[in-house]
Amino acid sequence: MEEIKIFCPATIANVSCGFDVLGVALDNVGDTMVVRKTSEKGIRITKLEGQDLPMETERNVAGVAGLALLEKGDYEGGFEIEIHKKIKAGSGIGSSAASSTGAVWAMNELLGRPFSTLELVQFSMEGERLASGVAHADNVAPALFGGFTLVRSYAPLDIIPIHTPSELYATVIHPQIEVKTSDSRKILKTNITLADGIKQWGNVGGLIAGLFTEDYDLIGRSLVDHIVEPIRSILIPGFDQVKSEALNAGALGCGISGSGPSIFAFSKGEAMANEVAAAMKNVYKNIGIDYDVHVSKINREGIKTLQ
Ligand code: HSE
Repeated sequence: MEEIKIFCPATIANVSCGFDVLGVALDNVGDTMVVRKTSEKGIRITKLEGQDLPMETERNVAGVAGLALLEKGDYEGGFEIEIHKKIKAGSGIGSSAASSTGAVWAMNELLGRPFSTLELVQFSMEGERLASGVAHADNVAPALFGGFTLVRSYAPLDIIPIHTPSELYATVIHPQIEVKTSDSRKILKTNITLADGIKQWGNVGGLIAGLFTEDYDLIGRSLVDHIVEPIRSILIPGFDQVKSEALNAGALGCGISGSGPSIFAFSKGEAMANEVAAAMKNVYKNIGIDYDVHVSKINREGIKTLQ
């Protein structure tokens, strides 16, 4: 195989209580990429449509992640990458992760799969380092593994795939402002109180248990963030109102998607996820802010080949 066309999913990182450790992949929101082998060494980004992002290999997250893979392998040639962005940069649904994971996943396929999924996560994290200043794995892991993932440990890297309940749907609304992950990380405190820690790890455990046992009430009770959301939500216009309207409409839980400004809600069943979408949209209609909204199943397979 000389060329491959792929779908790279958007992802919700943090999932309320799991800052930097929990993430989940979406099914119908994502980018398309075409990657092909070349005899020329190195990586070239030959096309980048849909967003205004750097095309120089060292300044592009797909380029940097791809170089990390090339450094570890013994392949003598190189790759050309075309990126067709549907995920807006700075939207909070893993735009950089989609590009960096897509590059390394496709390269690995074209090389006959010499690397494990965990190694692909490590290469992709270099793209996240370029994008946000920190090599976090909570977007790239679900994009590569599919479903929900837990980063149990960063050193050594240990990723745990988590069961996806069959009726779980996500609603994501993106108010049309851009929040850079690097900026929204700078405003966070570096210390937390023991009291907040106790509440937070109770919820992380509850959410994992709820996902494995398909206990939707427990999932809902656990989608609470005592540490990051109170600080970051001030960057998102209408956040408190969107959240309360989503919960009133019947969402299991609601919170900031990744570093924002997108807001996600989980619901049981597609019909409820659509009702929640309507309730969230109304808030932004009333306050006069443009938005995009997505209702999606959970993507269980991660990146996939397109014909
Ligand atoms: N965990 C990261 C953060 C995700 O919240 O900064 C960024 O998408």
